[in-house]
Amino acid sequence: MCKDAIVFNNKPKGVTLDAWIPYYICACGRSKEGVFCDGSHEGTNCLPKKVIVEKTKQYHICMCKTSNSFPFCDGTHSMYADEEVGKSVKP
Ligand code: FES
Repeated sequence: MCKDAIVFNNKPKGVTLDAWIPYYICACGRSKEGVFCDGSHEGTNCLPKKVIVEKTKQYHICMCKTSNSFPFCDGTHSMYADEEVGKSVKP
């Protein structure tokens, strides 16, 4: 987890990823759509997470940016209330 990240949302987003294509998942929570890196991490100590999946299917991408299985949701988002969306992640 990146300490400079902000909570983009307190629930995951279903995203179809194609097999064997490298994706760079936003880890800072500042990108426009919250899923893929768009360079918005500049000036933070966050870097996007590169992921390559073996199967084309829908994945639950972590939008709270604190999953222990990042970039995939592991349920950690349940610690964030709606009011915490857009704020700093918890250490
Ligand atoms: S959105 Fe579920 S753990 Fe981050």
